[in-house]
Amino acid sequence: MTSLVVPRPIGWLSTRSEDGILNLAPYSYFGALSVSPMLIAVSIGHKKEGLKDSLVNLRHRRAFCMNVVSAELLEPMNESSASVPPNVDEFLRSGLTAVDSDCVDAPFVAECRAVLECEVQQEVDLHGAPNTLVIGEVVGIRLDPSLKTEEGTRLILPEDLRPVGRLGGAAYSVVDEVRRVLRPDRR
Ligand SMILES: Cc1cc2nc3c(=O)[nH]c(=O)nc-3n(C[C@H](O)[C@H](O)[C@H](O)COP(=O)(O)O)c2cc1C
Repeated sequence: MTSLVVPRPIGWLSTRSEDGILNLAPYSYFGALSVSPMLIAVSIGHKKEGLKDSLVNLRHRRAFCMNVVSAELLEPMNESSASVPPNVDEFLRSGLTAVDSDCVDAPFVAECRAVLECEVQQEVDLHGAPNTLVIGEVVGIRLDPSLKTEEGTRLILPEDLRPVGRLGGAAYSVVDEVRRVLRPDRR
């Protein structure tokens, strides 16, 4: 299944612990749910030893940021998936710059050109799977002013953002070719 539902967007999730330690980890069980209200969801697996730091932190702070991984950030994104103790600052470890969001209680990755700032809306227990689905409401969007938009719209050009997608295992896709197809009733 993980090599068939592809490419999956990667939500690079940043949080702050109760003690103020910054945390960063990639999640590819991640998707958009609705535009109004603006909702996204991420499914966080549980470890044998307990909960992942991202889940512990977003429960405390009721907030997180989802940083968009562009092609040049593939390596640091992968680096941040290492399982490290909760007292390790994963921004420092991955050589990334953390900046405090001004609308939610979480840091974001300054190197990312697009960031969704989210409040936790609800958690859903995925019965039978040791995973918790976290639904977040996007309350702020940060965009690098240099990002290009499609002419006459507010759509960010994928050729400029170059988001990374997850394929199976260690395989990733980068947007190198974009085809545009108008819907039949909009031609
Ligand atoms: C590209 C990629 C996607 C991942 N997607 C998920 C995911 O959707 N759910 C999950 O539980 N773990 C996922 N992981 C593993 C977590 O990133 C990893 O367990 C990480 O150490 C969790 O960090 P935390 O304990 O700081 O939250 C993924 C790893 C990579 C490299």
